[in-house]
Amino acid sequence: MFDLGKIYTVIGGIAEERGIRAYAVGGFVRDLLMRRESVKDLDVVVEGSGIEFARWFDEKVEAEGSLVEFSDFDTARYVYTTEDEEGHKHTVFELEFAGARSEIYDELSRKPKVSTTTLHEDLTRRDFTVNAIALPIGVNGLGSEVVDPFDGAIDIEKKILRTPLDPDITFSEDPLRMMRAARFASQLGFTIEHHTYDAIARNRSRLKIVSKERICEEFFKLLATPVPSVGLYILYNTGLINEFLPEVSELNGVEELYGHQHKNNLVHTFKVVDNIAERTDNVLLRFAALMHDIGKPGTKSFVPGRGWAFDMHEHLGKKIVRDVGRRLRMSRDDIEYVALLVRWHQQPISLMDEGVTDSPVRRLIVNLEDHLQDLLTLCRSDITTGNPYKLKKRLKNYDYLEKRIAEVIEKDKLRAFQSPVRGEEIMERTGLRAGPTVGKIKKRIEDAILDGEIPHDYDAARVYFDTIKDEYLRNAEEWERGETELKIQNSKPNV
Ligand code: CTP
Repeated sequence: MFDLGKIYTVIGGIAEERGIRAYAVGGFVRDLLMRRESVKDLDVVVEGSGIEFARWFDEKVEAEGSLVEFSDFDTARYVYTTEDEEGHKHTVFELEFAGARSEIYDELSRKPKVSTTTLHEDLTRRDFTVNAIALPIGVNGLGSEVVDPFDGAIDIEKKILRTPLDPDITFSEDPLRMMRAARFASQLGFTIEHHTYDAIARNRSRLKIVSKERICEEFFKLLATPVPSVGLYILYNTGLINEFLPEVSELNGVEELYGHQHKNNLVHTFKVVDNIAERTDNVLLRFAALMHDIGKPGTKSFVPGRGWAFDMHEHLGKKIVRDVGRRLRMSRDDIEYVALLVRWHQQPISLMDEGVTDSPVRRLIVNLEDHLQDLLTLCRSDITTGNPYKLKKRLKNYDYLEKRIAEVIEKDKLRAFQSPVRGEEIMERTGLRAGPTVGKIKKRIEDAILDGEIPHDYDAARVYFDTIKDEYLRNAEEWERGETELKIQNSKPNV
């Protein structure tokens, strides 16, 4: 079982026994000083080998969690999990053990060079001063003698992101840190100190050496923040976004012709992302919001009498999403999900006109399948008018459309609905031949289900069938008798 108090005691015990020091560092300490709740992993820096320390830890806690070793880096992860009712494992807490070290990406390589060092040097080689604070771990828990060589605690107070070294050095050692700056600004509500900010603009092309997987993972962390536009504007204004998603920058700008202006699609798009962030934590759906109008720059035209038009931008958008997704090494399923939403995001608006028949509504239902609610979330977030009356009215239109969709689904369900006791079984059990009486019995069962007299299941339908069948058989006999009499009468010669 995961117990943070016990973890401290065990780590502190090992440190004391072995005569080495162990420290909590990084985001854990930062969040603790900020009194942020969301602590789910603890980075531990020890003097000596990270892997060795992690093995001692595993022994002491008697394999409460699972140990994963990364021998190339001399680090180890210790993962605590729980199992849900279906037997799926979920991570509750992660410990990362590392020997004090520096990890530097050189000019060309995508893999860092790792070397052992002192705690002070380890902190110097970290991304931001607020992440370069260490707290000793002892048997009684975290110690109070903070190791804070770059005044990170003050920067936390001032809500400032600043690199411990010259930012050109810190960013060039790991260029992904430039994206982390934008993410932390968005996530923690911090301001990037101006030298650090300028260095992002200056060093942005260094991001090229970082793998697309790391970039995408970090970018999605930014999209997961409460107001993603904070980070998105930093990426845009520093030009960093052009290193991995230049299509977004293309959205910027307003053109005017004959007194007609179109809206600034970058400003609009970032607002849509903020809107959707209020409605969902699904980061892929947030990404779809970022991409929804990505086809607009490539389809823009001025149509006399109509003004600015972006005809078929959703089709071009779908294509761009696939290019971008492949470039960012997203999974095929994720790409197709985003492409689908971008392709259809214009459609719901056209279904709000009066007199629209069921079939285009049905087409949307069939094409979107399980993602229809996500599309409506995107469409609702796409309303960026500053006029509260218009906003209310447009949102209401989506409520109507949602009702209409529900009605069409219900109608279609009814159309496909059949009695659980089928025609063949009715014939078998009654000895009736195919004909109107079998149809009447079937319909009677269906009506009973639709009227709520009996539940929609086979057993209930069978019991009900047994109670009504004689009535129909009697009628059928009478009818057949009548038929026979009629035949006899008809066969009598006319006199
Ligand atoms: N770190 C760094 N450079 C990076 C990544 C991480 O210097 N490119 C250091 C920072 O000191 C950071 C620590 O490693 O605090 C742990 O990294 P990580 O877990 O990725 O970030 P956190 O700061 O813990 O924040 P979060 O868990 O929210 O990502």
